[in-house]
Amino acid sequence: MAIALGLCAPAAFAEGCDDGEIVIKFSHVTNTDKHPKGIAATLLQKRVNEEMNGKACMEVFPNSTLYNDDQVLEAMLQGDVQLAAPSLSKFEQFTKKFRIFDLPFMFKNIEAVDEFQNSEIGSEMKELMVRRGLLGLQFWHNGLKQISANKPLIWPADAEGLKFRVQNSDVLKAQMKAMGASPQPMAFSEVYGALQTGVVDGQQNTWSNIYGQKFFEVQDGVTEANIGLLDYMVVTSVDWWDSLPEDVRDQLATILQEVTETRNAESFRVNEEAKEAIIEAGGTVRQLNAEQRQAWVDLMKPVWAEFVEDVGQENIDAAQAINA
Ligand code: LMR
Repeated sequence: MAIALGLCAPAAFAEGCDDGEIVIKFSHVTNTDKHPKGIAATLLQKRVNEEMNGKACMEVFPNSTLYNDDQVLEAMLQGDVQLAAPSLSKFEQFTKKFRIFDLPFMFKNIEAVDEFQNSEIGSEMKELMVRRGLLGLQFWHNGLKQISANKPLIWPADAEGLKFRVQNSDVLKAQMKAMGASPQPMAFSEVYGALQTGVVDGQQNTWSNIYGQKFFEVQDGVTEANIGLLDYMVVTSVDWWDSLPEDVRDQLATILQEVTETRNAESFRVNEEAKEAIIEAGGTVRQLNAEQRQAWVDLMKPVWAEFVEDVGQENIDAAQAINA
């Protein structure tokens, strides 16, 4: 029986997949069609189900319908899900080296991120969690983060005293403290409600997340500040990956590599389109002039010093050499 896209509904999962097929559940937290990660996961599902029919069957669970990012890695280690692509901030609980990706203004653009991730240092980072049972397969791009609040943010002083939702990352918390703001860690799926009800005043995220989750609707405006990176690692469990027959593992790895190259090349455009869509929907987007932007850089860059030992000065130097 041919496995058509979408047939593997969660409740009827076993029925949607043929007997004998290896079941691959992929859980993530974003939408499927207007988001760099969502589009990549959908393409991966389509290709696996077409090209590996009879051998493997993939079902994607988007929009935090199966797990949020705090739960998914634990579920993966239990064997309940086989693939996920949490943001890189979520891996600091396994290895502090990943904190380099959260350091503010570390990468000047997504091309620099791509070069760093594809360097020897980046490639080795995918294997840093093997002893904890997790294997990174590919880096997936989203993009640089913008900042918003329930009031205009032009100078860093505008953020003083505000509460900002952050991912649960020590670097992001330190960054907020540098701004004189108060960091409130919470799951992605809870952010819209928290902004709407005033539990937090602001947030930082990429254009695709700000658009996809409609954060702009409950904020005064979004400031294009490119204050840091939000990227992903496609991750699996070492046990599951090692259990795959070699031909299945090789074919899956090849498809994943091709999907990664195709979709990573489009991530910037997807974010630019989301920014335009915010403006078209009536959202406010604010630009900074050179002096204003420098004020944010000057305020936040000292945060690096707190984390040099965790991430390694040589890795910071390598990232900065790519920016140059
Ligand atoms: C967040 O928690 O803000 C992001 O990690 C969500 C995502 O996956 O883009």
